[in-house]
Amino acid sequence: MFFSQIRGVGCALPPHIVTNDELATHMDTSDTWIRERSGIIQRHHVTDGIATSHLAIEASQNALKQAGLKGEDLDFILAATLSPDYFFPGLGVQIQHGLGCRTIPAMDIRVQCSGFSWGLATADAFMRTGKYKRLLLVGAEIHSRIMELSNRNRNFSVLFGDGAGAVILETHSGSEAPSAKNNIRGMIDHEMGSDGSGAEMLILRRPGNAGEPTFQDMGEERSMASLPHMEGQAVFKNAVTRMSEVLTELLTRNGLTAADLDLLIPHQANLRITEMLRKKFELPEEKVVSNIHLYGNTTAATLPLCMNDAQNDGRLVPGKLVATVTFGAGFTWGANLIRW
Ligand code: UT7
Repeated sequence: MFFSQIRGVGCALPPHIVTNDELATHMDTSDTWIRERSGIIQRHHVTDGIATSHLAIEASQNALKQAGLKGEDLDFILAATLSPDYFFPGLGVQIQHGLGCRTIPAMDIRVQCSGFSWGLATADAFMRTGKYKRLLLVGAEIHSRIMELSNRNRNFSVLFGDGAGAVILETHSGSEAPSAKNNIRGMIDHEMGSDGSGAEMLILRRPGNAGEPTFQDMGEERSMASLPHMEGQAVFKNAVTRMSEVLTELLTRNGLTAADLDLLIPHQANLRITEMLRKKFELPEEKVVSNIHLYGNTTAATLPLCMNDAQNDGRLVPGKLVATVTFGAGFTWGANLIRW
């Protein structure tokens, strides 16, 4: 029986930190509004010349280093992003080339904030076949180039930040797979869902081919269609509902309650969402990872950034029972159960 274990974690953050006060020099907002509505104190933005692939490759190199491996040791790459360098080709092949990998498969995952969660599930499914030994999963985003520091985009641009995180998964085999009832380390179970009726509530229309004008006709000035659009309150409510549902489903199927978890790693969309989940599942603060105050919402990179920080602060050590839970544009949502 084959199963997958996480062997290394790495991250990459562009050095330039943008405070709430700095944002307030570009738009009508304030440190108080941003902190109270989202919990965010600062975020990282790239400077000229840095692309999503650069962050992805740096995070991957750090994960490889922690795992004691090199690019040539990998035999699969999954790259989750909503902000790739190019419309096509995808991010995966740039990572494959940048790391000096063999001509291995490199595939993109396009489910926004759920990308890393679905990536873990996809990685696990591939690895349970026994065909692939070492897989790199990356979540990488540059939001600062697709949003606008302006009044018309302020409900989005104060929330989102740039960054990347990566994990190395390794295939192991044994007579028993990891489960909630044993102490075998590895991926235990996953749950995913989507509802495309919510697509227009969190969307970036351009570049894209739907409707008029086509993206080729886009004028010099950015139209609203080329800025991310978010119906904040509706997205917020859907996030709380779906994240609660998907986590409950995962725990119940595995005969667990939230109290059995050593650590919950939620997608970092808003501190108020994290707190509502924490209270609903009656978890103490130390059991729920929260770093949105440092990085904002980095969509597909939030989970590995949390994993990296929780490893560094000593909460994520081998043997811990961990759940992740995510929600994002689409709408898409997911949860993973892992014996770390
Ligand atoms: O990761 C994917 C999932 N994303 C999410 O889950 C995000 C979900 N949504 C949210 O986090 C919140 O809805 C926001 C943080 C975006 C907004 O918080 P809110 O408490 O829902 O505020 P609101 O949208 O109801 O806006 C309240 C007021 C409005 O003004 P009026 O109409 O009351 O005069 C907004 O125009 O705040 C205004 N506003 C701002 N004010 C200062 C919106 N953005 C800003 C801003 N600074 N940046």
